[in-house]
Amino acid sequence: MNTQIQEYAKRLKLSWIRENYHEIKATSNEEYLLQLFENEIQQREERKVNLLLKPATFPKVGGNPFDWKDIILNQELDKEYLLTGRFMEQQENLIFYGGVGTGKTYLSTLIGLNAIQKYGKSVKFYTVASLVNRLLDANEKGTLNRLFKQIEKLDLLILDELGYIPLHKQGAELLFQVISMCYEAKSIIITTNLQFGQWNHVFGDPILTEAVIDRLIHHSHLIVFNGESHRYKESIIQR
Ligand SMILES: Nc1ncnc2c1ncn2[C@@H]1O[C@H](COP(=O)(O)OP(=O)(O)OP(=O)(O)O)[C@@H](O)[C@H]1O
Ligand SMILES: [Mg+2]
Repeated sequence: MNTQIQEYAKRLKLSWIRENYHEIKATSNEEYLLQLFENEIQQREERKVNLLLKPATFPKVGGNPFDWKDIILNQELDKEYLLTGRFMEQQENLIFYGGVGTGKTYLSTLIGLNAIQKYGKSVKFYTVASLVNRLLDANEKGTLNRLFKQIEKLDLLILDELGYIPLHKQGAELLFQVISMCYEAKSIIITTNLQFGQWNHVFGDPILTEAVIDRLIHHSHLIVFNGESHRYKESIIQR
């Protein structure tokens, strides 16, 4: 390979071209240049998606295509509105409510994946318990501001499994701070098995609970996951 070309490609940060320019076959200069650019752009986009995917820490879900049959969307909503991330344009929140195995984690992950792969958004998936642990830990180590700054940069924060574990006072207060910080600034998807009336059991304090619910539901859509547990169905099919 021509070292001068490689040197220039490096200076111009054209890493795909630098390594691969000599392998392109084309019948005209124009076609050659076009192919170089196309490949360089494609590689950059893939790199960007990977850079966003890794820190998003999505769980492994699915296998079967997502089944919308038992998902209840109110009138102003449809699948596309969720999957294209249009709810994020106005910093709306989504509240996924339903029983175990009904697809809450699956759909929230699907929406998050789409937001990254198709729209280059910045997304982070946490279970409520894992976020609260991180917050408590950061608070203890004096790095809370750094964690808050990371969250501030997101377009979408996914909080999975509100309700399975009650929070201690300090954890609840820190979680409230995060929700407050996100309010009207970015979107949250929160999944839960509890009706609002029972959120008190998670946050442990009625005033704090009311403040959390007030912020979350102000610009939000409630999506109800009906139906039976798919985990249960799948295990019966396998037997
Ligand atoms: N609507 C669905 N369409 C297709 N598969 C589904 C659907 N819902 C659930 N599943 C299957 O069941 C598994 C469990 O679903 P998921 O983890 O999303 O449930 P969940 O509502 O988050 O339950 P939990 O409240 O226990 O966390 C998924 O990985 C998927 O394989
Ligand atoms: Mg789940």
